[in-house]
Amino acid sequence: MTGGDTLWHGRFGEGPAEALMAYTVSLPFDRRLAADDIAGSRAHVRGLGRAGILADGEVTSVLGALDAVEAELEDGTFTFVPSDEDIHTAVERRVTELAGAAGAKLHTGRSRNDQVATDLRRYTKRELAVTGAALADLAAVLAARAAEAGDAYLPGYTHLQRAQPVLLAHHLAAHAWALARDIDRLVDALERMDVSPLGAGALAGSSLPLDPEAVAADLGFGAVFDNSLDAVSDRDFVAESLFVLALAGVHLSRLGEEVVLWASEEVGFLGLDDAYATGSSMLPQKKNPDIGELARGKAGRLIGNLTGLLVTLKGLPLAYNRDLQEDKEPLFDSLDQVRLGAIAMGGLLATATFRTDAMATAADAEVTAATDLAEHLVVAGVPFRDAHAIVGALVRRSLDEGIPLAELVAASDDLGPDAVALLGPGVAVQRRTTRGGGGPGPVAEQLERLTARLAGVDARLAPWLPAADG
Ligand code: ARG
Repeated sequence: MTGGDTLWHGRFGEGPAEALMAYTVSLPFDRRLAADDIAGSRAHVRGLGRAGILADGEVTSVLGALDAVEAELEDGTFTFVPSDEDIHTAVERRVTELAGAAGAKLHTGRSRNDQVATDLRRYTKRELAVTGAALADLAAVLAARAAEAGDAYLPGYTHLQRAQPVLLAHHLAAHAWALARDIDRLVDALERMDVSPLGAGALAGSSLPLDPEAVAADLGFGAVFDNSLDAVSDRDFVAESLFVLALAGVHLSRLGEEVVLWASEEVGFLGLDDAYATGSSMLPQKKNPDIGELARGKAGRLIGNLTGLLVTLKGLPLAYNRDLQEDKEPLFDSLDQVRLGAIAMGGLLATATFRTDAMATAADAEVTAATDLAEHLVVAGVPFRDAHAIVGALVRRSLDEGIPLAELVAASDDLGPDAVALLGPGVAVQRRTTRGGGGPGPVAEQLERLTARLAGVDARLAPWLPAADG
């Protein structure tokens, strides 16, 4: 036997073509499932023991072999052979080499179809939570920088045109609220995916007295499948993960775009720490915001990963089809990219310098108080539409004739000298007083709510995270 027999060699007169193996193997990427595959096999073997299908001694010997395989995989001494088409095949092959006849009983009542679905759910439950923790850390950085931003303010924008001033804390916190929703969505997905498919077999369950419920509990799943066809073919948990990750990636990209914009010389609101910026190979003066740009750029592939999987799933007949092997690479990639992006962005924001003077100068442009002038008239009884027109006409004259708005306001019959104070530096931001608004009063309250919100999502996430020890 060169390179080992296939799992199905009994039915076949000759071995697989090299071209088939080259095209169909998943080992290069599903090796990531090794630890989960071994955990799944341990639970399955214990279940076979409880069912009386394996004798106690056989269970012990298979568990021992699984421990040895785990150690070999961890220390790099595991030798893969050419017939190891995926991690499940490789582990079972090695267990059988080590445990002999008992090892050959490991796959009793199990198919790679329920096995891979189990492994991937278990992997996703953990890794999605780890990615959620990275997003939570980024949200915490935003909240911390918001808390220390004090009364610094900048122009808020619509259409990328200066609109009304807001506190810097308000702007930073806005991104943190989006991340809190991402983590909520992520935990929603975790709760739904916490269902064990093990025991579904290839598609229809088993004639052997297996107990899928007990195996699910042994593996730490909160529930067990109700329909074996659904259990082996359901990849909703991958699609949901990819959506959650794509949307988080979109949020990272919006944050990234603002980093790029703010770090530009034209805007000048943000100075990047050397450790979180890159230089140019040719232009000695450059300090580039590559993390922000990649956060923007990688959103494309995160959306592509989701789209690709949905197209793979679309129209698949029940139950397992090999197409489903295409679930793993996009999932692994999206988990990696969002985790790495959140960590890099957190480092960038934790170390960046906010140029609050440049922000204030931009925000103190007279026109950003135009709404306050109109609202001043509203308080005096002028219908808002008329007030808007009055102030709009003053702004137009100021721009056309190059006269400071303050002068025109002072001379205006409608407004007059009293209203000029509204144009003073830092005045307009103080006047944003309603709940959730951008002025100091509501922002202080908001930051308290944000702290509670982030503690809430941390608490929801915590039970899903692997225990933090070495
Ligand atoms: N590598 C396969 C996958 O990822 C494992 C399941 C193979 N099942 C089968 N019936 N060929 O989906």
